[in-house]
Amino acid sequence: MCGIVGYIGYREAYPIVLKGLKRLEYRGYDSAGVAIYDGKNIQLSKTKGKVVDLENKINQKQAPKGTLGIGHTRWATHGIPNDINSHPHYSNSGDLVIIHNGIIENYTSIKKELVKRGYVFHSDTDTEVLVNLIEDVIKNENVKLGKAVQIALNQVVGAYAIVVFDKKKPDEIVVAKLGSPLAIGIGEGEFFVASDASPFIEYTTNAIYLKDEEMAIIRRQKGVKVRKIKDDSIVVPYIQELKLNLEQIEKGGFDHFMLKEIYEQPNVIKDTYRGRLLANEGIIRLGGLEDYIQKFLNADRIIIVACGTSWHAGLVAEYIFEDLARIPVEVEYASEFRYRNPVITEKDVVLAISQSGETADTLAAIKLAKSKGAFVYGICNVVGSTISRETDSGTYTHAGPEIGVASTKAFTTQITVLTLIALKLANLKGTISSRDYMNYLRELEVIPQRIETALKANEHIKDVAKVFKNSKNFLYLGRGYNFPVALEGALKLKEISYIHAEGYPAAEMKHGPIALIDEQMPVVVIAVNSNHYDKVVSNIQEIKSRKGIIIAVVTQGDTTVKAMADYIIEVPYTSESLTPLVTTIPLQLLAYHIAVMLNRNVDQPRNLAKSVTVE
Ligand code: G6P
Repeated sequence: MCGIVGYIGYREAYPIVLKGLKRLEYRGYDSAGVAIYDGKNIQLSKTKGKVVDLENKINQKQAPKGTLGIGHTRWATHGIPNDINSHPHYSNSGDLVIIHNGIIENYTSIKKELVKRGYVFHSDTDTEVLVNLIEDVIKNENVKLGKAVQIALNQVVGAYAIVVFDKKKPDEIVVAKLGSPLAIGIGEGEFFVASDASPFIEYTTNAIYLKDEEMAIIRRQKGVKVRKIKDDSIVVPYIQELKLNLEQIEKGGFDHFMLKEIYEQPNVIKDTYRGRLLANEGIIRLGGLEDYIQKFLNADRIIIVACGTSWHAGLVAEYIFEDLARIPVEVEYASEFRYRNPVITEKDVVLAISQSGETADTLAAIKLAKSKGAFVYGICNVVGSTISRETDSGTYTHAGPEIGVASTKAFTTQITVLTLIALKLANLKGTISSRDYMNYLRELEVIPQRIETALKANEHIKDVAKVFKNSKNFLYLGRGYNFPVALEGALKLKEISYIHAEGYPAAEMKHGPIALIDEQMPVVVIAVNSNHYDKVVSNIQEIKSRKGIIIAVVTQGDTTVKAMADYIIEVPYTSESLTPLVTTIPLQLLAYHIAVMLNRNVDQPRNLAKSVTVE
């Protein structure tokens, strides 16, 4: 987490760095800082709070001038969010300035050593330890910045993306990466560095994504030299042409990125299946899958590893794969899986699901699976991300940049990819009839229209939100395919409104949560057409007899639940296996409106970060 930006070139660095930080704020936003260098003086400003707080602080003085600059927006790991712990950090001499995303795990022992040698520390951060370690190497080994960074990083255990410069070298910045992302934008006579490409997309579409254990020395006139941190060997970098455009990372008239992203779902789902789903021909073609289809067909089981919302998409996949393709599936929290000493064999296929492709636990889980010989397939959104590179093969979701911290379109596009894979396997295995297969394909193709219809309930959902915005607790219930949707609905509400919410399988409610039900407790029940419809109706009755308040998500035209529920939200009919793609929509909107009414920071909820690159 944490967002980092850097610039070296001929323009004023401060406006570029500041704008870049605003775009990266989704990565962390408890403090922010910049250091701008004009060749003589370094002007460093930092503060607890958001990038706008930093901007206000700087506005009270004069905007810093200089054509070299670095900036940081923080999600605290070591040391509470305060002005002192904010980045950038100086070395003791005041010559070196650093920003860092990640964790230096052995910082305590390095710090002890440095303290013995007379170094003084002002913050509680691991980052300040690293910058002084680099300084110590420069002094003791009589080397320049680049070499010192390389030597220092070889003593470090942990994860990092760093940008550092030396006052004595006004035409150079040095960057390095292990575990946390770092992109270098290549302009003409200017260079950019950032945690993702969004800060520099209007200046250049040429970028180098550093690989783990690589570092780069970027010189104003001479350009970029990439080396391996371990042995200093030269790397010929691959310059990638970026497809991202500016519009994709702006709000486009919506009040929040989250709302924009909710409304984008019909279009991005089309992007997900474009060229891959040929419904009339009965064809599903997924580039990454074609060469490895036998791995899936011969697999003893599929193990899904993921975190957060992506884990919920994995749970939906468990239903789809088992139901349609008859392949046993286990869904694992990546953070548990990686430390559990799990039984994995070469006959397992491990599916890693991750929007960012950078989640540390998911990454560790796939490394473990690979080391045990499993075939690892990735479903990622961010093109070129670490997980997409570390997996044996995979499929991109093509949802476009997701900026709102609460994941929305990533979830539905993940389910779309997972459904395509399951249907392809089911067809090849003959576990569904060709008639059913064709029906699923046609229905999947019109899912974007179904979602458009579901979105039309927005105003009504806003009214429901008004009624319940002050509730202290919510219960979300669903069964079968919609049990994971209940979990996801509760998670959305928690994340952005800070109201306590629990998702539960509707029948399991009797084993505990039913004790919570009284006339104050709103219960959101997903009660759409399904094999379990009658059972869900019984669950609703159980809640009603205990005076709970029912907000039911039902299929258009439903009369039974309508007669029992206090509030209903209708979604269009679709095949049961595809219902999560439509039932999720009203739950996203309900959470969104409640959060807006409570004046929460919807796109940047407290304590959360978009991509969790620390464990
Ligand atoms: C964080 C985000 C969630 C996301 C989870 C997994 O917690 O706030 O929205 O679901 O990480 O992230 P990934 O990028 O691996 O899907």
